Amino acid sequence: MSSIEKHFADALKSIARNLDIKESIQQSPELYPLFQKSAKRFVTGESKENAVSIGDQLIHKGYHISLEFIGENTKNKAECVRAKEEFIALIKECGNRGISSRISLDLSHIGLSVNPELAYEYLLEIAKEAQSHGLSLMISMEESAKTDQILSIYKRVVSEYSNVGVTLQAQLHRTLEDLNTLLNYPGTIRIVKGAYQEPSDICIPRSGKLDERYIQLVDLCVKAGHQVSIASHDEVIHKQIIERGYLQNPNVEAEMLYGICPELCKQLKDEGLPVRVYLTYGVESFLYLCHRIAEYPPNIYVAITDMIHGEQDSTQLY
Ligand code: FDA
Repeated sequence: MSSIEKHFADALKSIARNLDIKESIQQSPELYPLFQKSAKRFVTGESKENAVSIGDQLIHKGYHISLEFIGENTKNKAECVRAKEEFIALIKECGNRGISSRISLDLSHIGLSVNPELAYEYLLEIAKEAQSHGLSLMISMEESAKTDQILSIYKRVVSEYSNVGVTLQAQLHRTLEDLNTLLNYPGTIRIVKGAYQEPSDICIPRSGKLDERYIQLVDLCVKAGHQVSIASHDEVIHKQIIERGYLQNPNVEAEMLYGICPELCKQLKDEGLPVRVYLTYGVESFLYLCHRIAEYPPNIYVAITDMIHGEQDSTQLY
């Protein structure tokens, strides 16, 4: 990323967290429809039915799927209850339609920012429902200020429900140590580079060094015989994983976000390798779209083109 792109990405990440800007876009009859046209490339729609239908199409094309009801940093208990109930309804929708999906969620969506015990309690309920339908859960990783709380809740829940996994960010120095501990727990580990801006003393920036750390973490999971999801769009990472023959290992899969690098997903899937596509839905797509543009600034051209020429349905690209 050039330095101008880096400044742009940093600015966009701060805009994404500005609630006033988010609300004025969501409430603007002129801006919101334009914004939705851009979001449609990366977000399946506003309802779980949209997400599950697109997921079903991808399953028929030979992919595995993850589903997320987008949201984070829920501010009060009533909203946490609504989020938890939506996850339970999503699980039931998948169960009733015979859709095998991983359900992905942020703990701050179901209470972490209100009271960590609430998030723990709701995660248990969601995990129980998922288990009864034969589905798995994946906890996303949020800002480094929340890492300890997220890992602590994960360890408590996975001891009861082994269908729950957790995401680790290769960019944090602490992750190597965290992984060594987590290998003693049964849940799947998803490895990402990390989407959040973090202080330089705790974080490795995007670089060859970060790619090396990423591969080191995958190596550790594979050697331990642990289930691991390689969640990256980076062709350099995928090349190394393929050279090591890891995607032939039943414990390993590639996972990518819907609408991003569909050609790479298709190529891997057509080679008979396991690929999971991560689908999102909901009305909170503002932050999600900002993240997708910030991590790859040329997406701003794509977003503006979609606003002008109409939304892109990404499903056909898989
Ligand atoms: P990197 O950012 O280095 O990009 C490498 C190349 O990939 C780019 O040059 C480009 O070609 C392509 N690329 C990457 N992003 C693109 C985009 N948006 N559009 C088009 N091309 C793109 N983060 C987090 O902090 N907590 C979490 O829980 C999760 N969860 C998660 C789940 C899944 C399934 C994925 C794939 C990712 C996440 N992330 C995440 C996001 C992750 O941390 C990271 O920000 C993005 O995956 C981008 O990093 P890459 O590994 O793709 O490489």
